[in-house]
Amino acid sequence: MGKDAAKDEALEQRHNMLSPFTAGWQMVKVEPLIIEKSEGIYVYDTNGNKYLDALAGLWNNALGGNEPRLVEAAKKQLDVLPYYHSFWNRTTPVTLELAKELVEMFTQVKMSRVLFTNSGSESNDSQVRLVWYYYNAIGKPHKKKFIAREKAYHGSTYASASLSGLPNLHKGFDAPASFVVHTDCPHYWRNHLPGESEEDFATRLADNLEKLILKEGPENIAAFIGEPLMAAGGVMPPPATYWDKIQPILKKYDILLIADEVVCAFGRLGTMFGCDYYNIKPDLVSMAKALSSAYMPIGAVLVSEKISDAILKFSDQHGSLGHGFTYSGHPVPCAVALEALHIYKERDIPGHVAKVSPHFQKGLHKLSSSPVIGEIRGTGLIIGVEFKDGKRPENTFPADWGVSAYFADKCKEEGMLVRISGDAIFMSPTLTITIEEIDELITMFEKALKATEKYVESKKKSG
Ligand SMILES: Cc1ncc(COP(=O)(O)O)c(C=O)c1O
Repeated sequence: MGKDAAKDEALEQRHNMLSPFTAGWQMVKVEPLIIEKSEGIYVYDTNGNKYLDALAGLWNNALGGNEPRLVEAAKKQLDVLPYYHSFWNRTTPVTLELAKELVEMFTQVKMSRVLFTNSGSESNDSQVRLVWYYYNAIGKPHKKKFIAREKAYHGSTYASASLSGLPNLHKGFDAPASFVVHTDCPHYWRNHLPGESEEDFATRLADNLEKLILKEGPENIAAFIGEPLMAAGGVMPPPATYWDKIQPILKKYDILLIADEVVCAFGRLGTMFGCDYYNIKPDLVSMAKALSSAYMPIGAVLVSEKISDAILKFSDQHGSLGHGFTYSGHPVPCAVALEALHIYKERDIPGHVAKVSPHFQKGLHKLSSSPVIGEIRGTGLIIGVEFKDGKRPENTFPADWGVSAYFADKCKEEGMLVRISGDAIFMSPTLTITIEEIDELITMFEKALKATEKYVESKKKSG
């Protein structure tokens, strides 16, 4: 190919978007997958191909593609009041109703108030603002630092990307901000020492957390943020006893606990919240995604009583609480979210997940003996599969073999979309998935796995 032709090809323009979490060469050279319709757990592209969407969008489409009650809730609200804001003590009936419902639904701790946002990133960004405000309110203005975990994903605003523990979110973005310190990622398989049990691993991580707190000075640490089960950073269920050991340390040093429930709520682990599953008692909670079953952008921060009381009093000294968004508590997403919460309860979606997820987990875990799989891990309807040349985390395949991408391509050929992340792929299907649909998912997974095993064999032979 001539120099000019190569240049032309490189400049080929597929569309006008700066696509999130997409490489530049992909935006320029690769035809995007354009999805135009959804139905239950399936989506359809513009070429008429049908796919089982094994990540349910971005872990968020809890009720599937065409839940008529959610569509109706949006239409009804659009007819009556398509927008009003929630600034200056004005709001809408459905916004108030949703706030009440959320406060009542979260039972691990008595929550008091809800701040509405438009996404998980905004929820976590707001957490930083609210926590600083709180400590300023109670006369502890030096408590500024946040502890987050390596490999966590908390979003991609500046503050939430800083809280995240993923290099891709930091490099080139002047992040993380200096108020964030990262502690160990609780991934047993990757990080345990020889002979160390899960419980001992959890104890070591709790000890490390305490050492970090003492090094930074407990008087400087405001909060610890964690996903009950880490999702986007690798689908990593915490080791046994992890949360039991972490929480007393935070209490001991007067450090607030923020549960990032953006993926785990509402039912993903077989309980309404991830906090219910792991017995986590947070001071603040972030939500988004399945809050509206993905039908409308909406997020929320749940605030416990002691924090909201202090915030309220402090705001009086400053004229008002100087935080919020034009679309905080937008009535249309609120109406959809309220209907989604009603459906979760009426249909006992967490109960359904608890019932079908052992079939999902067992069916896929059975395949972990494959020579190209290092580890399969998950709980409820969330699973991560790490491709390795053997069973140890360090047994990586050469990067240019693109083993996880090959597997994902084969899944797509079979009619299933999975998410790729480095050497791993993730799945978190729609929470309404049936046993038959799980079997279909596993069958496609098995076929793609067989093809991947053959691909790896051929690579080894040729290389
Ligand atoms: C645990 C967690 N927190 C926060 C976010 C950010 O949410 P959003 O993409 O809605 O801003 C995500 C997104 O995947 C997430 O997984």
